[in-house]
Amino acid sequence: MGENKNKLTTSWGAPVGDNQNSMTAGSSGPTLIQDVALLDKLAHFDRERVPERVVHAKGAGAHGYFEVTNDLSNYTKADFLSEVGKRTPVFVRFSTVAGELGSADTVRDPRGFAVKFYTNDGNYDLVGNNTPVFFIRDAIKFPDFIHTQKRDPRTHLKNPTAVWDFWSLSPESLHQVTILASDRGIPATLRHMHGYGSHTFKWTNAEGKSVWVKYHWKTDQGVKNLDVALAEKLAGENPDYHTEDLFNAIEKGDYPSWTLYVQIMPLEDAKTYRFNPFDVTKVISQKDYPLIEVGRMVLNKNPENYFAEVEQAAFSPATLVPGIDVSPDKMLQGRLFSYADTQRHRIGANYQSLPINRPLNGTNNNYRDGNMRFDGNGGRSVYYEPNSFGGPHESPKDKQAEFEISGMASNRPYEDDDFYTQAGDLYRLMSEDERTRLVRNLVNWLKPVEKEEIKERQIRHFFRADSEYGKRVAEGLGLPVPENIL
Ligand code: HEM
Repeated sequence: MGENKNKLTTSWGAPVGDNQNSMTAGSSGPTLIQDVALLDKLAHFDRERVPERVVHAKGAGAHGYFEVTNDLSNYTKADFLSEVGKRTPVFVRFSTVAGELGSADTVRDPRGFAVKFYTNDGNYDLVGNNTPVFFIRDAIKFPDFIHTQKRDPRTHLKNPTAVWDFWSLSPESLHQVTILASDRGIPATLRHMHGYGSHTFKWTNAEGKSVWVKYHWKTDQGVKNLDVALAEKLAGENPDYHTEDLFNAIEKGDYPSWTLYVQIMPLEDAKTYRFNPFDVTKVISQKDYPLIEVGRMVLNKNPENYFAEVEQAAFSPATLVPGIDVSPDKMLQGRLFSYADTQRHRIGANYQSLPINRPLNGTNNNYRDGNMRFDGNGGRSVYYEPNSFGGPHESPKDKQAEFEISGMASNRPYEDDDFYTQAGDLYRLMSEDERTRLVRNLVNWLKPVEKEEIKERQIRHFFRADSEYGKRVAEGLGLPVPENIL
């Protein structure tokens, strides 16, 4: 009875007669190709891996919910934010950026902070990091930037010369480099870090009025960072330290949570604000635009299956719902293409139908066929539009908010090239101990760079942000202190 109920089967459901010995000619003869169960097992095994994410390959995920604590429906018609107490299921994935799927968790790297809200109006993905800014501000530089963070194609080694060559030639990176080399560069756990949407987004209310918005996730556990020596020790002893910490905390009922805040900027302020709000290397001052609470996210359930949920999860900044649109941020605009494009390659054309990505409210469209179409493919329902058979139709009230554009089309940089004020402000905010650790981390990182010219160029950037900052890094490296900031 037990044997009948729990029979091992092949992929076509036939019982497997022997799962210990392959079929051979005699007890030690060659294996027979007619052992079809063996062929089936090996063939499936041969295809177990999908390509890892081109960035953010190492990650940990969890399920939970988001609950609105403050009614901001005067700013956005997004259904999941419509009333206090409203709960929306979420799936979150935290990640490092540069390492491979098996790499160590406790490295100095930004952490991805990606949230999928399963709303009644479709999924909304907020795909941010644990830093409020980024290294570059135009998508066209992203593949080159990532090349410097990944392995050198000749040696297959990480290459600090490439890292600092690129950064020193891309001074817009200075703000994020200062954050990354500070204590915040290695969080103690994934539970003890803040998250940010980083870009400026647009919210639109039911009357069609829009505002610019920035998202901040504040950890309710408090911010804690790892001491460098301990982080290095853990990277050797327990490379999955952060993954394990998150899993164990949730497993024992110690559910981590974050409070979501937004900064709201009237549309017209963007034209005159002292920093370009669409430049993702800059923050918007909380004194000018204070944080407003939105709600709280709790992670209370571990995945049942890592591959099905965490590896197959597909987040994208283009996964938007009515009431939330994008801004003209040049990085964000590039990201709108890149994520779904890589996901079609990484997990297949029908990746949005996988259980972890499928919207809970279902889909209703005329998309049909494609590789690995594993649902009913729309069955016999009408498959074109407009039609006379009652098929799905558009809802004009859910269109993106109208916006005005003008200007000559060309490949032009942002006009603002102040790469130094905000990096310097951050340095000046740090305590003496924090500055000492920041400079030590930078000096150790810059030491192996092969060309003095790269180090000197980078020192000039630190110096322009704050002369003490530049002086201390130069002294640490035993190099001349720049005489002036030009
Ligand atoms: C993952 C591209 C900038 C946060 C990815 C992936 C790609 C990508 C191709 C892999 C997605 C997948 O395989 O599912 C880009 C491009 C960027 C950019 C082209 C700039 C133009 C950023 C920025 C942030 C960010 C500025 C944060 C503010 C993330 C996160 C993930 C990710 C959190 C991992 C999502 C997950 O957990 O699956 N990015 N990225 N990226 N990116 Fe970006």
